[in-house]
Amino acid sequence: MMGGVRMDKVKSLVVVGTQWGDEGKGKVVDYLAKQADLVVRFQGGNNAGHTVVYGANIFKLHHVPSGILNPGTLCLLGNGMVINPLVLIQELDELEKRGIGISNLRISGKAHLIMAYHEDLDEANEKLLGEKKIGTTGRGIGPAYADKALRRGIRAIDLTDFDRFRNRLSEILPLQNRLLEEIFDHPGYDLDQLADRYRSALEKLGPLVTDVSLLLDDNLRSGKKILFEGAQGALLDIDHGTFPYVTSSSTVAAAAATGTGLGPQYIGQALGVIKAYTTRVGEGPFPSEDNTEAGEQLRQRGNEFGTTTGRPRRCGWFDAVIARYAALINGLTGLALTKLDVLSGMEMINLAVAYRCNGKEIKHFPMSIEELKDCSPIYESFPGWDEDLSRVRRFEELPAAARHFISALEEAVGVKVELISIGPDRSQTITCPGSRLVDWIEPEK
Ligand code: GDP
Ligand code: IMO
Ligand code: MG
Repeated sequence: MMGGVRMDKVKSLVVVGTQWGDEGKGKVVDYLAKQADLVVRFQGGNNAGHTVVYGANIFKLHHVPSGILNPGTLCLLGNGMVINPLVLIQELDELEKRGIGISNLRISGKAHLIMAYHEDLDEANEKLLGEKKIGTTGRGIGPAYADKALRRGIRAIDLTDFDRFRNRLSEILPLQNRLLEEIFDHPGYDLDQLADRYRSALEKLGPLVTDVSLLLDDNLRSGKKILFEGAQGALLDIDHGTFPYVTSSSTVAAAAATGTGLGPQYIGQALGVIKAYTTRVGEGPFPSEDNTEAGEQLRQRGNEFGTTTGRPRRCGWFDAVIARYAALINGLTGLALTKLDVLSGMEMINLAVAYRCNGKEIKHFPMSIEELKDCSPIYESFPGWDEDLSRVRRFEELPAAARHFISALEEAVGVKVELISIGPDRSQTITCPGSRLVDWIEPEK
């Protein structure tokens, strides 16, 4: 027993990205959400683009948890997130127009807001960096988290009262304006005009603001199942990623605790979503990047264009060095392998098992970006398969070459594959024999 909660009854699962984002977290969360009572985002903001597909319906979610498409699932935006109120109300309007109810959505009062000046500062910072730019999504993520750390952010709780919101803005805006005007040659904002721009967001979002930590505690006590939805990926983590080419939040499983206001004991299994190859959007080193025909083939077949910005994603082979590293920093208990279907028709499939770095073979992920830039992948090659996998529903039906590739991948990473995705649709999902996700998967009829 912990504070009255029976720990043996706690059912929680964290779903995180293990590469540089866009691994298919939205698809996996939507699939598992059917068996969840709550789905909670715990970090990031609208830099995330999570795609959910069922039948002819395609949803691209940026702030809203991917559980929203399952009626009855309570969806929460945790305190670890940064939220752009103007974008969030558009996202909610869009969902409502498409018949998706949002009465089950709640926002932590402690989440910080992305304001218009954060977007300006993001763009201006990138311009100033020139060739050394990060390649951000331009959504104001870095400046919003920086203001949180500098203790001059505005929080979702301030959305519950217009006077409070305006007051808080009046304390902060003079400084933001000086920054914009003096450093970035921007005209700055008028307090009343800017505050007014947020009026309708306050009306819509204010009533959704709640204490997420308390709400989660109540739900855990009554035995409810909680799914935590990560955004971005391990290599974009502010501490452990390819710094400085990272995002500004903690993307690892442990952040599900701090990002929602729960203790670490509530974080149960950690499922790492991993693509059968690797992609990256934005700048920064990427050892297994393939700039030949094969990389282009992966981009076209995998439709690797950004969900948020539409940028073509850089593509390359599966990298077990980063996957092992992601397993370490997240404490992964299992893998959800996505986009295996995209590899159909490849004559040979490469898998990086180690790096050659300054003449030496290394199996661990280096700490410095300078060292990483000198790393080239050491590949093992596997024969491909021609079969279309999109209709496969059982592990045993996969071609022998695909099964062989999966077991080599598991061996190289040291974590079991529990779920396989062979297409964007909800139905295109295979549970592996012996999967420990029993609580999260609908029993077969
Ligand atoms: P996320 O950010 O991790 O949620 O991933 P994104 O949604 O940004 O990118 C993944 C893309 O791949 C989306 O367009 C998905 O619809 C699609 N997708 C997900 N799983 C699969 C799969 O197994 N096969 C194929 N072909 N597409 C997939
Ligand atoms: P999902 O949740 C892929 C990348 C940007 C850039 C870096 C910093 O869909 O997987 P930021 O705007 O966060 O300051 O940009 O991080 N990035 C992502 N790449 N998927 C994402 O989210 C990303 N969110 C941020 O391209 O390189
Ligand atoms: Mg994405």
